[in-house]
Amino acid sequence: MQNPSDIIKEFENELGKVSSLAVLEQLTITYLGRNGIINTLLQSMKDLSVEKKKEFGKEVNELKFFITSELENKKTTLAKKTDETTFIDVTLPGKQYPKGSLHMITPAIEEISKIFEKIGFIRVSYPEVEWEHYAFEVLNMPRGHPARDDFETFYFDTPEHKKYAKMVLSPHTSSGQVREMLRLNSKPPIRMINIAKCYRLNWDTTHTPMFHQFEGLCVDRGINITHLKGTISYFAKEFFGENREIRLRPHHFQFTEPSFEVDVSCGVCLGKGMVNGSKCRVCKSGWMELAGSGMVHSNVLRAGGIDPDVYTGWAFGFGPERCVMMKEGLKLNDMRIMYGGDIRFLEQF
Ligand code: DAH
Repeated sequence: MQNPSDIIKEFENELGKVSSLAVLEQLTITYLGRNGIINTLLQSMKDLSVEKKKEFGKEVNELKFFITSELENKKTTLAKKTDETTFIDVTLPGKQYPKGSLHMITPAIEEISKIFEKIGFIRVSYPEVEWEHYAFEVLNMPRGHPARDDFETFYFDTPEHKKYAKMVLSPHTSSGQVREMLRLNSKPPIRMINIAKCYRLNWDTTHTPMFHQFEGLCVDRGINITHLKGTISYFAKEFFGENREIRLRPHHFQFTEPSFEVDVSCGVCLGKGMVNGSKCRVCKSGWMELAGSGMVHSNVLRAGGIDPDVYTGWAFGFGPERCVMMKEGLKLNDMRIMYGGDIRFLEQF
């Protein structure tokens, strides 16, 4: 006859291995079924003396009680587990996954693009990996010209092309000017808005090695400075607000003649330079520098196959990062944060 304490040991061992309700059911039959271990034990008692029967009967009953309650407990835990894995409460709110968002410069570029498309400009973009030829030569900056130094250009370590010279990361969107003239088979009218990434070897609080520019180019018969001024003024009012003004200051660029720098009136003091009797803390002078511009140099028109005696044109180049900063009134003391990839900054826009 089997000893009840051996049975407990074996039962506990087997119960520990049970991992499904079906296996548990089998175990229940093995122990508590009609021909199960407990019943067999009870039947084997019939030949014992009255004294022993009493004693053994008590033991077997305790054993039966123990096994029954252990099986019940196991059933409850297994049922709960199954519930958790198979039951889907469709009324619960869905899981919230972190959602990305557009970088602050992207909607700004879309807005700028729309402002110019409204007045008939065509949005284009030209290679980020560019030839020196388009970045400098055709813009009236021949090889060895010191003006090239201003552009802090990244050069590729690749063989030089006979005509197009070295490969560079385009340092400005002006590289697209002659490309656009040639794309249109040197046939004005041209109304281009070229928005692209640009690269310069600069890394400080007001410069990042990658940044953006948008370049306007307009070439036709009879184009003059008033058209340039009118277009930039239209842009400033659309982008910054009706109460903003622009001004042109004489400057020098190799690819425009005459050349100007463009300022926009400060959004805080509205061009006065003073707020409540003291100097405006944002601009200090009433104006903020925004862009370079000018009348397209005759050499540039010629490089694009356009006769400067018949056609004239203007061009400008803006930094959208600056425009965003001035529009939002963002007083960033370090522009690098825009491209630092810190989500805590970026998700605020
Ligand atoms: N390409 C110049 C720069 O990156 C900006 C510029 C100046 C663009 C004058 C123009 C222009 O189209 O006419 O510094």
